[in-house]
Amino acid sequence: RKLSIIGMPMDLGQMRRGVDMGPSAIRYAGVNERLQMLFDEVIDLGDISIGRPEVRIDKESKLRNLELIAEKTAILADKVDEVIQSGAFPLVLGGDHSIAIGTLAGVSRHYQNLGVIWYDAHGDLNTAETSPSGNIHGMPLAVSIGLGHPLLTKIGGYQPKVKPENIVIIGARSLDEGERALIKEKGIRVYTMHEIDRLGMTKVMEESIQYLQERTDGVHLSLDLDGLDPTDAPGVGTPVNGGISYRESHLAMEMLAESEIITSAEFVEVNPILDEKNKTASVAVALMGSLFGEKLL
Ligand code: ARG
Ligand code: MN
Ligand code: MN
Ligand code: MN
Repeated sequence: RKLSIIGMPMDLGQMRRGVDMGPSAIRYAGVNERLQMLFDEVIDLGDISIGRPEVRIDKESKLRNLELIAEKTAILADKVDEVIQSGAFPLVLGGDHSIAIGTLAGVSRHYQNLGVIWYDAHGDLNTAETSPSGNIHGMPLAVSIGLGHPLLTKIGGYQPKVKPENIVIIGARSLDEGERALIKEKGIRVYTMHEIDRLGMTKVMEESIQYLQERTDGVHLSLDLDGLDPTDAPGVGTPVNGGISYRESHLAMEMLAESEIITSAEFVEVNPILDEKNKTASVAVALMGSLFGEKLL
Protein backbone atom coordinates (compact mmCIF):
# COMPACT_ATOMS: atom_id res chain seq x y z
CA ARG A 1 0.00 0.00 0.00
CA LYS A 2 1.32 3.41 -1.06
CA LEU A 3 0.13 6.87 -0.04
CA SER A 4 0.96 10.18 -1.68
CA ILE A 5 0.43 13.47 0.13
CA ILE A 6 -0.32 16.63 -1.83
CA GLY A 7 -0.40 20.03 -0.08
CA MET A 8 -2.80 22.60 -1.52
CA PRO A 9 -2.07 25.86 0.32
CA MET A 10 -4.91 27.86 -1.21
CA ASP A 11 -7.01 30.42 0.68
CA LEU A 12 -8.74 32.06 -2.28
CA GLY A 13 -12.12 30.44 -1.67
CA GLN A 14 -12.91 32.58 1.36
CA MET A 15 -11.79 35.79 3.05
CA ARG A 16 -10.02 34.80 6.25
CA ARG A 17 -6.26 34.62 6.03
CA GLY A 18 -4.26 31.69 7.35
CA VAL A 19 -5.92 28.65 5.82
CA ASP A 20 -3.15 28.66 3.20
CA MET A 21 -0.90 27.53 6.07
CA GLY A 22 -3.06 24.43 6.63
CA PRO A 23 -0.69 22.00 4.89
CA SER A 24 2.28 23.26 6.96
CA ALA A 25 0.28 22.95 10.17
CA ILE A 26 -0.76 19.39 9.32
CA ARG A 27 2.82 18.43 8.47
CA TYR A 28 4.02 20.04 11.70
CA ALA A 29 1.46 17.90 13.54
CA GLY A 30 3.29 14.85 12.24
CA VAL A 31 1.27 13.51 9.35
CA ASN A 32 4.21 11.84 7.62
CA GLU A 33 5.47 10.00 10.70
CA ARG A 34 1.97 8.95 11.71
CA LEU A 35 1.05 7.48 8.35
CA GLN A 36 4.41 5.83 7.70
CA MET A 37 3.41 3.18 10.22
CA LEU A 38 0.31 2.35 8.20
CA PHE A 39 1.63 2.24 4.63
CA ASP A 40 4.55 0.50 2.96
CA GLU A 41 5.49 3.83 1.50
CA VAL A 42 4.46 7.45 2.15
CA ILE A 43 5.52 9.97 -0.45
CA ASP A 44 5.09 13.64 0.41
CA LEU A 45 4.89 15.43 -2.92
CA GLY A 46 5.08 18.84 -1.26
CA ASP A 47 2.77 21.74 -2.04
CA ILE A 48 1.23 22.87 -5.27
CA SER A 49 2.47 26.39 -5.89
CA ILE A 50 -0.26 28.98 -5.51
CA GLY A 51 2.15 31.93 -5.74
CA ARG A 52 0.21 35.12 -6.04
CA PRO A 53 0.59 38.72 -5.03
CA GLU A 54 -0.47 39.71 -1.54
CA VAL A 55 -3.04 42.10 -3.03
CA ARG A 56 -6.55 40.79 -2.68
CA ILE A 57 -8.60 40.91 -5.82
CA ASP A 58 -12.25 40.62 -6.69
CA LYS A 59 -13.59 42.00 -3.40
CA GLU A 60 -17.08 42.66 -4.73
CA SER A 61 -17.48 39.53 -6.78
CA LYS A 62 -20.20 36.89 -6.51
CA LEU A 63 -17.45 34.41 -7.37
CA ARG A 64 -14.42 35.78 -5.60
CA ASN A 65 -11.06 34.87 -7.21
CA LEU A 66 -12.81 32.71 -9.82
CA GLU A 67 -10.05 32.66 -12.44
CA LEU A 68 -7.22 31.89 -10.02
CA ILE A 69 -9.23 29.15 -8.32
CA ALA A 70 -10.06 27.59 -11.70
CA GLU A 71 -6.39 27.69 -12.72
CA LYS A 72 -5.01 26.25 -9.48
CA THR A 73 -7.65 23.55 -8.97
CA ALA A 74 -7.01 22.32 -12.52
CA ILE A 75 -3.36 21.83 -11.57
CA LEU A 76 -4.43 19.92 -8.46
CA ALA A 77 -6.73 17.72 -10.58
CA ASP A 78 -3.80 16.68 -12.79
CA LYS A 79 -1.63 15.96 -9.76
CA VAL A 80 -4.29 13.80 -8.12
CA ASP A 81 -4.80 11.98 -11.42
CA GLU A 82 -1.05 11.25 -11.62
CA VAL A 83 -1.00 9.91 -8.07
CA ILE A 84 -3.83 7.48 -8.79
CA GLN A 85 -2.11 6.39 -11.99
CA SER A 86 1.02 5.68 -9.94
CA GLY A 87 -1.02 3.24 -7.84
CA ALA A 88 -0.92 5.34 -4.67
CA PHE A 89 -3.76 6.57 -2.48
CA PRO A 90 -4.10 10.36 -2.86
CA LEU A 91 -4.33 12.40 0.35
CA VAL A 92 -4.81 16.14 -0.19
CA LEU A 93 -4.15 18.69 2.57
CA GLY A 94 -6.00 22.02 2.42
CA GLY A 95 -6.40 24.83 2.04
CA ASP A 96 -9.99 26.02 2.00
CA HIS A 97 -12.71 23.72 0.72
CA SER A 98 -12.69 25.15 -2.81
CA ILE A 99 -9.73 22.82 -3.43
CA ALA A 100 -12.24 19.93 -3.57
CA ILE A 101 -13.17 21.15 -7.05
CA GLY A 102 -9.71 20.04 -8.16
CA THR A 103 -9.47 16.89 -6.08
CA LEU A 104 -12.81 15.61 -7.35
CA ALA A 105 -11.96 16.51 -10.94
CA GLY A 106 -8.80 14.40 -10.65
CA VAL A 107 -10.34 11.47 -8.79
CA SER A 108 -13.48 11.20 -10.90
CA ARG A 109 -11.47 10.41 -14.05
CA HIS A 110 -10.86 7.00 -12.52
CA TYR A 111 -14.38 6.02 -11.47
CA GLN A 112 -17.61 5.52 -13.39
CA ASN A 113 -19.67 5.92 -10.26
CA LEU A 114 -17.68 7.89 -7.75
CA GLY A 115 -19.17 8.25 -4.27
CA VAL A 116 -18.46 11.16 -1.96
CA ILE A 117 -18.69 11.54 1.80
CA TRP A 118 -18.89 15.25 2.60
CA TYR A 119 -18.08 15.53 6.31
CA ASP A 120 -18.94 19.16 7.03
CA ALA A 121 -21.07 21.62 9.00
CA HIS A 122 -22.02 23.08 5.62
CA GLY A 123 -23.46 21.76 2.37
CA ASP A 124 -21.08 23.70 0.12
CA LEU A 125 -23.86 23.48 -2.45
CA ASN A 126 -24.12 27.17 -3.34
CA THR A 127 -23.85 28.73 -6.76
CA ALA A 128 -23.19 32.39 -7.59
CA GLU A 129 -26.97 32.85 -7.55
CA THR A 130 -27.60 31.37 -4.10
CA SER A 131 -24.35 32.20 -2.26
CA PRO A 132 -24.74 34.70 0.58
CA SER A 133 -21.00 35.40 0.55
CA GLY A 134 -19.55 35.00 -2.94
CA ASN A 135 -16.98 32.66 -1.37
CA ILE A 136 -16.19 29.71 -3.60
CA HIS A 137 -15.42 27.42 -0.63
CA GLY A 138 -19.21 27.36 -0.17
CA MET A 139 -19.66 25.97 -3.70
CA PRO A 140 -17.42 22.94 -4.44
CA LEU A 141 -20.06 20.24 -4.03
CA ALA A 142 -22.45 22.09 -6.36
CA VAL A 143 -19.64 22.46 -8.89
CA SER A 144 -18.92 18.74 -8.69
CA ILE A 145 -22.51 17.85 -9.63
CA GLY A 146 -22.23 20.22 -12.59
CA LEU A 147 -23.80 23.38 -11.16
CA GLY A 148 -21.97 26.69 -11.18
CA HIS A 149 -19.64 28.73 -13.31
CA PRO A 150 -18.41 26.84 -16.40
CA LEU A 151 -14.80 27.79 -15.61
CA LEU A 152 -15.19 25.54 -12.55
CA THR A 153 -17.60 22.83 -13.72
CA LYS A 154 -15.68 22.14 -16.92
CA ILE A 155 -12.28 21.49 -15.28
CA GLY A 156 -11.00 18.22 -16.73
CA GLY A 157 -13.26 18.64 -19.76
CA TYR A 158 -16.37 16.81 -18.58
CA GLN A 159 -19.15 17.15 -16.07
CA PRO A 160 -20.62 16.26 -13.67
CA LYS A 161 -17.85 14.68 -11.63
CA VAL A 162 -20.29 13.10 -9.20
CA LYS A 163 -23.94 12.08 -9.35
CA PRO A 164 -26.07 13.69 -6.65
CA GLU A 165 -27.37 10.29 -5.56
CA ASN A 166 -23.78 9.15 -4.88
CA ILE A 167 -23.22 11.83 -2.23
CA VAL A 168 -23.64 11.53 1.54
CA ILE A 169 -23.30 14.70 3.62
CA ILE A 170 -22.53 14.09 7.31
CA GLY A 171 -22.61 16.72 10.07
CA ALA A 172 -24.66 19.45 8.37
CA ARG A 173 -25.99 22.18 10.66
CA SER A 174 -25.70 25.33 8.55
CA LEU A 175 -27.46 25.25 5.19
CA ASP A 176 -28.46 28.24 3.09
CA GLU A 177 -31.90 28.40 1.52
CA GLY A 178 -30.73 27.57 -1.99
CA GLU A 179 -28.75 24.63 -0.64
CA ARG A 180 -31.82 23.20 1.10
CA ALA A 181 -33.81 23.49 -2.10
CA LEU A 182 -31.06 21.76 -4.07
CA ILE A 183 -30.78 18.91 -1.56
CA LYS A 184 -34.52 18.26 -1.94
CA GLU A 185 -34.55 18.67 -5.70
CA LYS A 186 -31.58 16.33 -6.28
CA GLY A 187 -32.34 13.85 -3.51
CA ILE A 188 -28.94 14.24 -1.87
CA ARG A 189 -28.57 12.08 1.24
CA VAL A 190 -27.87 14.21 4.31
CA TYR A 191 -27.25 13.23 7.92
CA THR A 192 -27.64 16.47 9.85
CA MET A 193 -26.66 16.81 13.50
CA HIS A 194 -30.25 15.86 14.29
CA GLU A 195 -29.83 12.42 12.72
CA ILE A 196 -26.40 11.97 14.32
CA ASP A 197 -27.89 12.72 17.76
CA ARG A 198 -30.94 10.61 17.15
CA LEU A 199 -29.45 7.54 15.47
CA GLY A 200 -25.94 7.72 16.87
CA MET A 201 -22.80 7.80 14.75
CA THR A 202 -22.64 3.99 14.51
CA LYS A 203 -25.96 3.79 12.69
CA VAL A 204 -25.21 6.85 10.57
CA MET A 205 -21.97 5.29 9.35
CA GLU A 206 -23.46 1.81 8.86
CA GLU A 207 -26.20 3.29 6.70
CA SER A 208 -23.83 5.58 4.79
CA ILE A 209 -21.35 2.79 4.08
CA GLN A 210 -24.05 0.40 2.91
CA TYR A 211 -25.67 3.09 0.75
CA LEU A 212 -22.36 3.90 -0.97
CA GLN A 213 -21.27 0.26 -1.30
CA GLU A 214 -24.45 -0.50 -3.21
CA ARG A 215 -24.01 2.16 -5.87
CA THR A 216 -20.40 3.34 -6.21
CA ASP A 217 -17.05 1.98 -7.42
CA GLY A 218 -14.89 4.28 -5.27
CA VAL A 219 -15.52 6.77 -2.47
CA HIS A 220 -13.81 10.10 -1.85
CA LEU A 221 -13.79 11.43 1.73
CA SER A 222 -13.87 15.23 1.83
CA LEU A 223 -13.44 16.14 5.48
CA ASP A 224 -13.92 19.77 6.45
CA LEU A 225 -12.59 20.21 9.99
CA ASP A 226 -15.55 22.48 10.74
CA GLY A 227 -17.69 19.34 10.66
CA LEU A 228 -16.32 18.77 14.14
CA ASP A 229 -17.46 20.86 17.07
CA PRO A 230 -15.41 24.07 17.48
CA THR A 231 -14.33 22.95 20.96
CA ASP A 232 -12.50 20.03 19.32
CA ALA A 233 -11.46 21.87 16.14
CA PRO A 234 -11.27 25.62 16.81
CA GLY A 235 -8.88 26.46 13.97
CA VAL A 236 -11.41 26.88 11.17
CA GLY A 237 -12.71 29.95 9.33
CA THR A 238 -16.44 29.24 9.58
CA PRO A 239 -17.09 27.47 12.90
CA VAL A 240 -20.62 26.37 13.78
CA ASN A 241 -21.61 25.26 17.27
CA GLY A 242 -23.15 21.89 18.01
CA GLY A 243 -20.87 19.80 15.84
CA ILE A 244 -19.59 16.24 15.66
CA SER A 245 -17.38 15.29 18.59
CA TYR A 246 -13.79 14.12 18.51
CA ARG A 247 -14.87 10.66 19.63
CA GLU A 248 -17.71 10.35 17.11
CA SER A 249 -15.30 11.41 14.40
CA HIS A 250 -12.78 8.74 15.36
CA LEU A 251 -15.55 6.16 15.33
CA ALA A 252 -16.61 7.32 11.86
CA MET A 253 -13.03 7.07 10.57
CA GLU A 254 -12.55 3.62 12.13
CA MET A 255 -15.74 2.36 10.53
CA LEU A 256 -14.57 3.71 7.17
CA ALA A 257 -11.22 1.96 7.64
CA GLU A 258 -12.99 -1.32 8.37
CA SER A 259 -15.30 -0.96 5.37
CA GLU A 260 -12.35 -0.35 3.01
CA ILE A 261 -14.54 1.83 0.78
CA ILE A 262 -12.41 4.99 0.81
CA THR A 263 -10.21 5.42 -2.28
CA SER A 264 -9.10 9.06 -1.84
CA ALA A 265 -9.31 11.72 0.86
CA GLU A 266 -8.78 15.37 1.66
CA PHE A 267 -8.68 17.26 4.95
CA VAL A 268 -9.53 20.94 4.56
CA GLU A 269 -10.12 24.29 6.28
CA VAL A 270 -7.34 23.90 8.88
CA ASN A 271 -6.37 27.47 9.79
CA PRO A 272 -3.45 27.63 12.25
CA ILE A 273 -3.85 31.39 12.75
CA LEU A 274 -7.28 30.86 14.28
CA ASP A 275 -6.22 27.72 16.13
CA GLU A 276 -5.13 26.95 19.69
CA LYS A 277 -1.59 25.55 19.62
CA ASN A 278 -2.17 23.62 16.41
CA LYS A 279 -4.99 21.60 17.97
CA THR A 280 -7.02 21.38 14.77
CA ALA A 281 -4.15 20.10 12.64
CA SER A 282 -3.42 17.54 15.38
CA VAL A 283 -7.03 16.38 15.31
CA ALA A 284 -6.80 16.08 11.53
CA VAL A 285 -3.71 13.88 11.81
CA ALA A 286 -5.28 11.73 14.55
CA LEU A 287 -8.37 11.21 12.37
CA MET A 288 -6.16 10.25 9.42
CA GLY A 289 -4.57 7.64 11.66
CA SER A 290 -7.97 6.06 12.29
CA LEU A 291 -9.05 6.41 8.66
CA PHE A 292 -5.98 4.51 7.50
CA GLY A 293 -6.34 1.69 9.99
CA GLU A 294 -4.53 2.62 13.18
CA LYS A 295 -5.67 0.35 16.01
CA LEU A 296 -4.91 0.34 19.72
CA LEU A 297 -4.77 -3.46 19.94
N1 ARG B 1 -22.70 28.58 3.26
C1 ARG B 1 -21.75 29.62 3.51
C2 ARG B 1 -21.30 30.27 2.21
O1 ARG B 1 -21.69 29.87 1.14
C3 ARG B 1 -20.54 29.08 4.28
C4 ARG B 1 -19.74 28.06 3.53
C5 ARG B 1 -18.64 27.47 4.36
N2 ARG B 1 -17.89 26.49 3.61
C6 ARG B 1 -16.80 25.89 4.07
N3 ARG B 1 -16.18 25.06 3.24
N4 ARG B 1 -16.32 26.11 5.25
O2 ARG B 1 -20.54 31.19 2.21
MN1 MN C 1 6.82 2.00 6.54
MN1 MN D 1 -17.69 23.75 6.41
MN1 MN E 1 -16.80 22.77 3.59
